[in-house]
Amino acid sequence: MEQAKSVAGLSESAEPASDDLLVVDRIVERHRGEQGALIPVLQKAQLAFGHLSPEVIERIAARLEMPISQVTGVVTFYSYFTTTPRGENTVRVCLGTACYVRSGKQVLEDLEKTIGVSVGETTRDRCFTLEIGRCFGACGLAPVVMINDDVHQRVKSTRLRELLEPYSCSNGGEARSDGGTEAGTGARPEAQSHTPGGSA
Ligand code: FES
Repeated sequence: MEQAKSVAGLSESAEPASDDLLVVDRIVERHRGEQGALIPVLQKAQLAFGHLSPEVIERIAARLEMPISQVTGVVTFYSYFTTTPRGENTVRVCLGTACYVRSGKQVLEDLEKTIGVSVGETTRDRCFTLEIGRCFGACGLAPVVMINDDVHQRVKSTRLRELLEPYSCSNGGEARSDGGTEAGTGARPEAQSHTPGGSA
């Protein structure tokens, strides 16, 4: 993302904002005056940029006339929000009870080795971000891994490369959207904890 030359002094006398910050401004304007505007603004900003950079957070705080610490507090509370750039594909390994006892932890460890990053990290080529989840609603066919919106069930550590291959960014970065492998059904995940607007 293009860096703002300056995020200090956001009044009319400030230097021209970068395109990204102008996008932030437009998002804020759409929600100005709404109660609880912060979360939808953060959601839309993250959708626009893929993550919430310090410059974007600072701009949102300034435009909503909130302390930066308040905005940062919301960003860090909800696991939905991320301050680091994400990969083109998000791989989530379920560590809910059913998956955990059916080798979910082993699948996670093997995926870390296969992808080459730890949980919460993104590969250097920005192809994969690895995360964990807490039940995707497919416990009967554990262990379960979600890649983007695809649910992969009964995942085997020995077949992880096959699992990831359709999402390879060397294939143009096109993520599958036609359901998973290994009995993937395309079932939707249950709401995750700490999702804005959820039960957290
Ligand atoms: S515990 Fe993994 S899908 Fe339910």
